Amino acid sequence: MESQDVTQEEQQVDQVQTIIEQVDLNQQEEEQKVSELQQYNNTKPQSYLLMFNVQKQKNFGTLIRSAAAFNVNQVFVIDSQPTKKRISCFGSQGTASKTNFQYFTGLKDVKQYCNERNISICGIEIMPEAQPIHSHPFKGNTLFMLGNEGSGLNKNQIAICDHFVYIPQYTDKTASLNVAISGSIIFQHFAQWAGYQEQKIVGYKFEEGDKESIKKGMLIATVGNAATNDPVKKREQRQQKKNEELDEHLEEGLILE
Ligand SMILES: C[S@@+](CC[C@H](N)C(=O)[O-])C[C@H]1O[C@@H](n2cnc3c(N)ncnc32)[C@H](O)[C@@H]1O
Repeated sequence: MESQDVTQEEQQVDQVQTIIEQVDLNQQEEEQKVSELQQYNNTKPQSYLLMFNVQKQKNFGTLIRSAAAFNVNQVFVIDSQPTKKRISCFGSQGTASKTNFQYFTGLKDVKQYCNERNISICGIEIMPEAQPIHSHPFKGNTLFMLGNEGSGLNKNQIAICDHFVYIPQYTDKTASLNVAISGSIIFQHFAQWAGYQEQKIVGYKFEEGDKESIKKGMLIATVGNAATNDPVKKREQRQQKKNEELDEHLEEGLILE
């Protein structure tokens, strides 16, 4: 390795160490900031997602991820014997563990729960009575429900909806969107309408709330992606290599100093 590169890396190591110390000191403050954002967003109307009739695991996982990004408060699941393990969240990119799931035994159960809490049920579907999503036809807390990949919302689902929204399409090239894409677009519109405060961007990502992610995000923001290469470890390895070389030279009697 060129000595210039080594000096540059040494500087990076110092920077990284300073940041790690600073992050540890500011840990509580940072966590406080994250929860302040959540607290603020909790004062606004809330959205919920009912997972019912969505067939493909990948769509399920993608919807969980988008629900997490757009501050969907809870994901309702219909399951007579609820256990988290039985829900496959492939593609949720770790957001399933941060998701608040609520279990119900059937659609009637969901309807009753929503009636008691003044949550309106909004079906996401292409149908004559649906309103375009950009008109933001929301009144308050809203539970969203999507249809099956092949057959759309079934009649039992339609029966419990208070209103419907659709996403306008602008060509004759496809009859509908992917179900997870549809949900994501709708959640984003709801978030805008509800007036949620946006999460902070760190580097090229939105900051995550857990300790390790905060630390990693701050490191990447300061020293770039090199931070993920763990320069501290690399310096230790270089030092070890130097020591080994020194030992070899000493053995060979080649050391002049
Ligand atoms: C692939 S679509 C199939 C639905 C379609 N109604 C049918 O019967 O073929 C699956 C689901 O995605 C959602 N969806 C797809 N495109 C949509 C759009 N433009 N507006 C609203 N929802 C849409 C709906 O929830 C729909 O039930």
